Amino acid sequence: MQELSWWQHAVIYEIYPRSFQDSDGDGVGDLNGILRRLDYLALLGVDAIWVSPIYPSPMADFGYDVADYCGIHPLFGSMEDFDRLLKEAHGRGLKVILDFVPNHTSDQHPWFLESRSSRNHPKRDWYIWRNEPNNWLSNFGGPAWEYDEATGQYYLHSFLKQQPDLNWRNPAVKAAMFDVLRFWLRKGVDGFRVDVMWMMIKDDQFRDNPPNPGYRMGQPSFMRLLPVYSSDRPEIHDLVAEMRAVVDEFGERVLIGEIYLPVPKLMAYYGVDLRGANLPFNFHLLQCAWSAQEVGKVIADYQAALPAGAWPNWVLGNHDNARIATRIGARQARVAAMLLLTLPGTITMYYGEELGMCNVPIPPDQVKDTFEKIEPGLGLGRDPERTPMPWDGSPTGGFTTGWPWLPLGDEHEIVNVAQMEREDNSIMQLYRNLIQTRQTYRTLVSGKLAGVHAENHVLRYERSGHGQRLLVVLNMAPEPAQVAISGSGTVLISTQLDREGSEVRGPIDLRAAEGLVVRME
Ligand code: GLC
Repeated sequence: MQELSWWQHAVIYEIYPRSFQDSDGDGVGDLNGILRRLDYLALLGVDAIWVSPIYPSPMADFGYDVADYCGIHPLFGSMEDFDRLLKEAHGRGLKVILDFVPNHTSDQHPWFLESRSSRNHPKRDWYIWRNEPNNWLSNFGGPAWEYDEATGQYYLHSFLKQQPDLNWRNPAVKAAMFDVLRFWLRKGVDGFRVDVMWMMIKDDQFRDNPPNPGYRMGQPSFMRLLPVYSSDRPEIHDLVAEMRAVVDEFGERVLIGEIYLPVPKLMAYYGVDLRGANLPFNFHLLQCAWSAQEVGKVIADYQAALPAGAWPNWVLGNHDNARIATRIGARQARVAAMLLLTLPGTITMYYGEELGMCNVPIPPDQVKDTFEKIEPGLGLGRDPERTPMPWDGSPTGGFTTGWPWLPLGDEHEIVNVAQMEREDNSIMQLYRNLIQTRQTYRTLVSGKLAGVHAENHVLRYERSGHGQRLLVVLNMAPEPAQVAISGSGTVLISTQLDREGSEVRGPIDLRAAEGLVVRME
């Protein structure tokens, strides 16, 4: 059996830095806050943290509008703080993955200020300027083109108008951005999560996007068109391969792509001869209906489509989507944890998932996310899934000594780390046990996945290899269920954490929303 790279057997933990831990009382999380919680993360058992953007930014999109790719926003700390965090994380065996935002900069980035200063500026072509707009739409609503009075042209912004798109067809842009990667890799960061990877290259003829016949009222307005010409262009794959080559200059690092595409198109991002992204993020579990049939189908389709040698990965939540416990309820959140941590490949989880944390409703006057402000009332705002991590039941949850930038919600009085530490069978303990089980039984990481099958409301599959055979059964219904098994086995872990070590043979009785991992004889 070939040695796996660290990222292949990793559980990656996404930290939204504004909301993880504040250390200086300004109500916004920071690097020293993360530092303070490294022991918590090590105990949880995760292998890597991915930290959402921490760079200088006017915060129009909370850091996804970068004004300096090689700096640290003072709100999060200093470069010394970052260096210390990196060192301390590494000291605990934790890898550090940064967010790289290549599609666009902030409109305050010096490059854009220069680009917009005159049509003749050498950096004019670093961004995408046109005399006439086409019909492309911004992902956050409205046209994707903004008219610039001073120079009489339009610039492209696939997101906010404060986020002008870089022109990746310009070799100088490539060179400058690849040097950004090298800057952080030289410091020792272990890889990147690349923001909107599939959108980086646009049609060279700027053809209009066709209407989307499937558009329904209530969907975000950018879905009125199919983004055929503004994303997932054929040229993207060469660019991703070049980016990967830069990361590979530094040995064992990882390149992860944020890509929301159907499975066949997603798979292309592994690249020719797997020289593309190491991990094109697989978001299909966070988009599918929660039923044994649907989830089973997602797993089977994804596995079947993986190119030879491509390494799978699974995600249940992130800072752009409703939290899993809100989507499927607290009881099923435990089943989801077992599902996630028994699937093959690399696992990414979102901070607070281990607490079964829910979305926090945000009163209209406290909305921060511009997406919600531009298209209000459709439930598009992402503040609810970005609220502060509840460390204890105190009014500000141990997150800050000041006033938290987003409310913690009432639920945090019960759903918090300190409380779950006291309960032997909390979802947090379940996460710890599952991660530990994944470490002990490498079959769960790299073994064969077979027998994916939905029977009424129970999803089952087997993981086998290394001389082991593990059966996973997940009851996705609120009623008890029975599943037939041939042979006998021992329960390694139950979602209720109370059946470990018990023998099972013949039909297994599952309680409502119960899942089991059984080691078969
Ligand atoms: C990605 C990020 C999202 C951000 C957008 C624009 O989808 O995950 O948070 O708003 O890109 O950068």
